[in-house]
Order: sequence, then C-alpha cells, then structure tokens
Amino acid sequence: MKAIILAGGKGTRLRPLTHTGAKQLVPVANKPILWYGIEDLVEAGITDIGIIISPETGKEVQAKTGNGDRFGAHISYILQEDPAGLAHAVKIAQPFLQDSAFVMYLGDNLVQSGLTSFLNDFKARQLDALTLLCPVPNPTAFGVACVDDQGRVLKLVEKPKVPPSNLALVGIYLFDRVIHEAIANIQPSARGELEITDAIQYLVDQKSKVEARQIQGWWLDTGKKDDLLEANRVILDTCLTADNRGDVDEASQLIGRVNIGAGSQIKNCTIRGPVAIGENCYLENCFIGPYSSVASQSTLINVDLEHSVLLEGAKIVDIHQRIVDSLVGQRARITEAPQRPKAVRLMIGDDSQVELV
Ligand code: DAU
Repeated sequence: MKAIILAGGKGTRLRPLTHTGAKQLVPVANKPILWYGIEDLVEAGITDIGIIISPETGKEVQAKTGNGDRFGAHISYILQEDPAGLAHAVKIAQPFLQDSAFVMYLGDNLVQSGLTSFLNDFKARQLDALTLLCPVPNPTAFGVACVDDQGRVLKLVEKPKVPPSNLALVGIYLFDRVIHEAIANIQPSARGELEITDAIQYLVDQKSKVEARQIQGWWLDTGKKDDLLEANRVILDTCLTADNRGDVDEASQLIGRVNIGAGSQIKNCTIRGPVAIGENCYLENCFIGPYSSVASQSTLINVDLEHSVLLEGAKIVDIHQRIVDSLVGQRARITEAPQRPKAVRLMIGDDSQVELV
C-alpha cells in the first residue's frame, strides 16, 4: 500500500499567509499541518509516500519536510503544474502509484482517529474505494455523501447548494487501482477541476464496491483562519505535554501545560497553558493565555495574547490591548506607542484582515 498527500493547490482561503507560504506548512501547535498526515500514515504502516506539490510552494514543502527519514518513511515529491483538481493530482501521481492500492490524504486535513481500522476494512472487504465521513453543520462547504445502512455509498456531490445529507467527505480516501480508470472517464466540473467526488461517483455508477465509514473523534479542515485556530485549540488540548527546555526566570509563572523549546528566554511572564512556545523565542512582560502557539524565533515584549497562532519570527512589542483569535504570519511585525495610541499606523498587504475591537 502506498499513499499520496496533496500539498499543492492555491490556498486562497488562508491568504495573505499563503501568498508566500504553503498552507499545509502553517503550524498547528508549532508543527506543520502536513506532518500530522505523514505521521498518521506511518503509524498505519504506510511508508512509501508521494507528496503532490505546486510550482509556487513546492520547494518550501520539500525543504522543510525532507526525504522522510525523520518520519521513518520514504517521501517522493510529485510536481503538479496547475491546481487542476484532486483527481488530476491522482492522475499525475500514477507513475508513482503504479498498480498499487493507496491512501489519498489531503494535506490540510487533521483527524483524531488513526487509519489502521479503515485500512483493515478496505483490505478485508476488497473494496474499490473507501471514503471517510463526518456529520457537519455546514455540508454545503464540502463533498457530501448518501450511504445506505450497510455503509455502501449511493451518491456523492461536491459542495452541493442543497445537501442530500449532513455527511461530509473527510479528506482521506482509500482507493484500489480502478480509480485511475474512473478518472480517465470524468470531465472537469463547472469550476474547471477534475473532482475526485465525480470519479468516486463514476465507480458507484459502475457498481464497483464503494463504501464509507464515519470517523470517530474530531476532524479539522484547516482551510480558513477560524478552522486553523480551532485545530490549534484541539491539538493543544489533546496532545500537548508540559516541557520546559528554555530559560524561565524566577519572576515568571508557568501554569498548566506549557511547552517551551530550547533556547527560548522567558522574563517576567505569566503563561497559562495549554501553550506551545517554539525555540529561540524572547518573551518579556507578557501574559500568554490558553490555546496560543508561538513559533520559533518570535519576540514578544509587553504583550497580552490569547487563543492565537504566531508563525516563525513574528515580533510583537508594546501592545496594550489583549490580542485574541489572531493568526500572525512569518516575520510579521506589530508595534505600538508606549502610551495608549491616538492613531493607528499600518502597512498591510493584499487580502489582509485587521480587526480593531
Ligand atoms: O477537506 C475535505 C474536503 O476536501 C472534501 O469534503 C471535498 O469533497 C474535497 O473536494 C476537498 O475540498 P476542498 O475545497 O477543501 O479542497 P481544496 O481545494 O482545499 O484542496 C484540498 C487539498 O488538496 C489542499 O491541501 C490543496 C490540495 N490540492 C488541491 C487541488 C485543487 C492539490 O494538491 N492539488 C489540487 O489541484
């Protein structure tokens, strides 16, 4: 069994962060989202992994993730010139996949449950495709499936205006090689993409063995800012262990689960976990509240932060209001006058969002 992870695409919904960086590398609890998928696959015994990359962000994904040694896997990189759809990604991965059955994992998805039981089911029942489902309150934002009481898939629709059920397709799929034939027989959708949903529907129409299972536990699609903050909250809540490899002075207080990376200096701060601070950060006179992740090389002085994610090298100095529910990009600077400001001075890129609340 092999796997492909899709880490191409445009990442329009996380702009401006994804103008320059890959959305799959945005960190959740200070670890790139993509790496959670790799770890899930390796844990299920799949170590031959192809990662689909785009011309814009592929080099960064490759440089950060490497050849797989750190995960105990072998990783190949497959360049997709255009983000022409999930099924298109499978098509260009065919030389890598050959005739192997495979898992397709969307690089911006995070799931709590492991993959092993689904793999076992897929093999034991000799399925052509197995999709994973999760009930959601907003099915119009996803692919949606109808299944019978045996778990057989009857119908799938991509982002339907009128959803036939509340069961969203989770971004993890198991396929036998027949999926390649299905993809060869579908046309691009109205949005111009070769949809994997249409390829699976083709299999259903051909009376192939297509089943679905509901996942247990949480599933997070990190496409938008609030989804990403929620993913960060859930991972910090469930996976973070307290560990201090930094230098914390006596005036500081660490409460609850706080994880501090090597080389970080904490002076006169209160940090109330769960909080993850990366390596070589400098924090002085700060309150860092629950569900915050501060990536490596960041500087925070006189800052009150809560429920936020800071990317690598962020610098925030002298902010007198609490910063909440925020996502701050790599090397971004936020500064303010020492007294309460009379005016706000900004330099903001395209598609940025600033809320002064
Ligand atoms: O997250 C689950 C949903 O993922 C499913 O419910 C939908 O049925 C499925 O179509 C997909 O919808 P999204 O709109 O969320 O897909 P997105 O365009 O965000 O792409 C998912 C991942 O695949 C993302 O990491 C980018 C990557 N990608 C996307 C395209 C279109 C590629 O690598 N190549 C591509 O051509």
